[in-house]
Amino acid sequence: MERELALEFARVTEAAALAAACWVGKGNKEAADGAAVTAMRAMFDTVSVDGLVVIGEGEMDEAPMLYIGERVGMGVPPAVDIAVDPLEGTNIVARGLTGAIAVLAAAPRGSLLHAPDMYMEKIAVGAECKGRVHLEAPVRENVRQVSRALGKLVSEVTVVVLDRPRHEQIIEDIRRVGARIKLITDGDVSPGVAAGYDDSGVDMLMGIGGAPEGVITAAALKCLGGDFQAKLCPEDQSEIDRCHKMGITRVDQVFSLDELAKSDDVIFVATGITDSFLLKGVRYYKRRAITQTLVMRSTSGTIRHIEANHNLDKKPLFKDQRIKNILAQDNHFPAE
Ligand code: FBP
Repeated sequence: MERELALEFARVTEAAALAAACWVGKGNKEAADGAAVTAMRAMFDTVSVDGLVVIGEGEMDEAPMLYIGERVGMGVPPAVDIAVDPLEGTNIVARGLTGAIAVLAAAPRGSLLHAPDMYMEKIAVGAECKGRVHLEAPVRENVRQVSRALGKLVSEVTVVVLDRPRHEQIIEDIRRVGARIKLITDGDVSPGVAAGYDDSGVDMLMGIGGAPEGVITAAALKCLGGDFQAKLCPEDQSEIDRCHKMGITRVDQVFSLDELAKSDDVIFVATGITDSFLLKGVRYYKRRAITQTLVMRSTSGTIRHIEANHNLDKKPLFKDQRIKNILAQDNHFPAE
């Protein structure tokens, strides 16, 4: 993939973040998600790529846009798999909390795992811990390995876990070994990616979250040289059948990073909607908005943080009637 593509993708996540940011704290996660999806979908039309959505908003009959199997982009080479989450953290935005991002990953066609929309057990760490942790190892063993690899005391290791009843045991095990925990309300992509950064304050992500989010996190850790392992957690026979239909024969398989994101040519882009471990959220002043976007390519290993200052009155996207209709309740973007 040409490197210019990474910057084109940055416009796509910026558009989604700007659209979703209007909904922060307004208690309406569906509207926030709808705005992000519409903005992201519209911006994709301008990107020089033949994109196939492999991780998206759901199956074709469930989602009007960015559904699995939808073609996006201008339909010109390169042919790529696209994994999107226009609004990762719908509840976060609805409640005005921290940790929401607009995110996408791209890789040559056929190289991202087509993960079904179900739960997935995950472990994410940075480069220094690669090869030291294993998804199926006891929690205490993984924590100790991270402490050794990072040259920290166990009591200085920070593990992020989604605050869910299903994680009671993991939380207890982490506490028992003596590591620090940051519990999050939602949004495990951002801390999963942050585990790949030395100075993010996150050393490891553990626990069960969404499988689509897992593939997106894996793409980011491929760019950062970190590690990510995962196992699907189908909850009933219909979910097992769905795995089989998507070509996953062994549902208890532990997927390695290279099985989740097969190519060495991966692009990962995320824009902050609210502040997170990774990025600042959208900030407004007068008729302008500032966004922070993380852009990474695995081929070069370059990590870019792009701060963009947008003149909202001049943004073609926000002149689009479709967007205005979605944002009609908001004074910033009145419908004509
Ligand atoms: P949405 O953006 O779809 O609301 O999902 C956010 C999220 O918190 C993910 O980051 C996480 O992987 C998953 O939901 C956890 O699922 P659950 O809320 O069912 O525990």
